[in-house]
Amino acid sequence: MDPDYRVVNRANWDARVPVHLAGGYGIDALLADPAALSDVVRFDRPRLGDLTGLDVVHLQCHLGTDTLSLARLGARVTGLDLSGESIRAARALAARAGASIDYVRSDVYDAVGALGAGCFDLVYTGIGALCWLPSIAGWARVVAALLKPSGRLFVREGHPVLNSLLGMTVADEHPDRAQQPWISGPGQATPALELPYFEQAQPLQWRDAVTYGGEEEVASPLMVEWNHGLGEIVTALLEAGFELTGLHEHDSVPWEALPGLMSLDDATGEYRLTQRPERLPATFTLTARLR
Ligand SMILES: C[S@@+](CC[C@H](N)C(=O)[O-])C[C@H]1O[C@@H](n2cnc3c(N)ncnc32)[C@H](O)[C@@H]1O
Repeated sequence: MDPDYRVVNRANWDARVPVHLAGGYGIDALLADPAALSDVVRFDRPRLGDLTGLDVVHLQCHLGTDTLSLARLGARVTGLDLSGESIRAARALAARAGASIDYVRSDVYDAVGALGAGCFDLVYTGIGALCWLPSIAGWARVVAALLKPSGRLFVREGHPVLNSLLGMTVADEHPDRAQQPWISGPGQATPALELPYFEQAQPLQWRDAVTYGGEEEVASPLMVEWNHGLGEIVTALLEAGFELTGLHEHDSVPWEALPGLMSLDDATGEYRLTQRPERLPATFTLTARLR
């Protein structure tokens, strides 16, 4: 029988916490300057709107770096995460930063029971969040139930096209390369469409002792993931009662998603393909409002 994904992923994320804390995770910079924002929230800021006085819930908040940044933009913030170790670290960060943030340990699918229905003006989530959830339709229903009437969703997430790619080496000459010289030649590394784009009942299981933003090995390396197509995400939100207010695709992503194929932009902390970044929608920002 397949393992319970929540047990596996909770153990994996609990085990990543000490590795991420040891790697820094941008925490020192947030503590050094009471006005500092995480790179992720700095990227989001032009599309976030005014958060002053809003009740915001950050789903899958991990160490709370983005949660703290939302609080610094004037929101009353609640963070929720499956991993108890993440919640413990996020509470410690808020205390050190002198920020008042509520943190709750819960599965996203149990968020309405944990936080109550119709309590928030904004649900904020993403950057490696949706891939841990088996049903995008179930997620959209939870997000809708958490919001007050006309409440908003803000999600910036790894693009499902990115999630379906692996770095591979080209074996053969492509016949069209004579007329399209930017096609990769034999021996060159390129992203290849190898993994499911559409949501599958069967998850992908990975055993990976390496985590972004850390150098030590992760003690519980097994993890369980799903991809969700962009159309599936949009349809799930429409069916849950949202109207779309924005959908932007970006050529950059805050983690090195395709190792060896991406370069870091120091100004933003984002990675994009080193060669021809215009090939890849690496992340998307979707904003929506309850109808
Ligand atoms: C990549 S992190 C999110 C990154 C976050 N944006 C940040 O600032 O670091 C993914 C988080 O999702 C949480 N998670 C995974 N599955 C979950 C679930 N079913 N319910 C709630 N949280 C979950 C993990 O514990 C982890 O903290």
